[in-house]
Amino acid sequence: MLESLTPIAQDKILQLIALYREDPRLDKIDLGVGVYKDASGLTPVMHAVKAAERQLWQVETTKTYTTLAGDPAFGAAMVDLILGAEFANRAAAIATPGGTGAIRQALELIRMANPAAKVWLSNPTWPNHPSIIKYLGMDMAEYRYFDAATRGVDFAGLMEDLAQVAAGDAVLLHGCCHNPTGANLSMDQWAQVVDLLSQRGAVPFVDLAYQGFGDGLDADAAATRLIAANFPEVLIAASCSKNFGIYRERTGVLIALTQPERRDVVQGNLNFLNRQNYSFPPDHGARLVTMILNDPTLRADWMGELEDVRQNMLTLRQSLADALRAATNSDRFDFVATHRGMFSRLGLTEAQVLRLRAEYGIYMVGDSRMNIAGLNAQTVPILARAIAQVVG
Ligand code: LMR
Repeated sequence: MLESLTPIAQDKILQLIALYREDPRLDKIDLGVGVYKDASGLTPVMHAVKAAERQLWQVETTKTYTTLAGDPAFGAAMVDLILGAEFANRAAAIATPGGTGAIRQALELIRMANPAAKVWLSNPTWPNHPSIIKYLGMDMAEYRYFDAATRGVDFAGLMEDLAQVAAGDAVLLHGCCHNPTGANLSMDQWAQVVDLLSQRGAVPFVDLAYQGFGDGLDADAAATRLIAANFPEVLIAASCSKNFGIYRERTGVLIALTQPERRDVVQGNLNFLNRQNYSFPPDHGARLVTMILNDPTLRADWMGELEDVRQNMLTLRQSLADALRAATNSDRFDFVATHRGMFSRLGLTEAQVLRLRAEYGIYMVGDSRMNIAGLNAQTVPILARAIAQVVG
């Protein structure tokens, strides 16, 4: 049987991790996978996470199963973090293995509820979005998103394409910190998208993997809250990997907003999907997150550290934009300072990206997406000079 399997092309982000590891150069720079690194290149365990782990070790008396949805307190705490108190009576939620698990479960829910639904994706988007949709055999379509000339959002193109959405189609929207471009909609533009998608009868499906990495915890959830307030049904796949720094614990949540009287049925379907795919979801990371969100001291500590992470990325953005301005003697990379989140798509050609890798040991995804958090004060000028060389 297994002889019939053929080799699978690896995800380009994961491929880059392997290439970087194999590179023997000591001065190589990793701007590939979306993992936060501090100034010394480490991805530390956040203080509040360590403190919660210490507490948990003392107070946890059993490892028996929780519920199919995970600990209900986790779902409630995440609904509150993302949406605030006012949507609790409309929200069904399940814990999932990471944000990717939430995306997978959301797609399966869409397919169960409406097998004819098409899923609309921004062009470009995180490569695993279309990959999972294709694997599930679902229909998909793209809407324009990135303006290669300005490195901002092609808003006219986006609106033109979303005007084609059919009633019942799901539209995947990056709630903040667009991956891979770093270019984001203004709140005024979000309001126009909400109006258009409401008229079309679309179901918004929000991927929220970077809350707290852009403009702050509340600002990064503002578009999701606007959507929640304006649609009867919304799916939200959120990740705790980045904002709690618990990547390997695989902690995410899928929230389905519906009418209050439909909530129990939707919750039952979400529980069923967990049961079919892996039964009970992982608990350790979710429990730490719940402890942190529900304990004022731990929460304040976490928020402070997350804010430091965000400020550090903003500082790196500004210093890279300044260094590129000096190195290229032009303003063509000024957009780096206005993009938000971990990533910016620089607009380099694939050949230029390959030159950065071959000649300078600088690793970024082939579409020229770079992870800002992979930089530090020493590597910013090195990157700026290398970019100036390859574009010059
Ligand atoms: C990324 O886009 O780099 C992250 O979301 C990590 C991943 O799994 O691809």
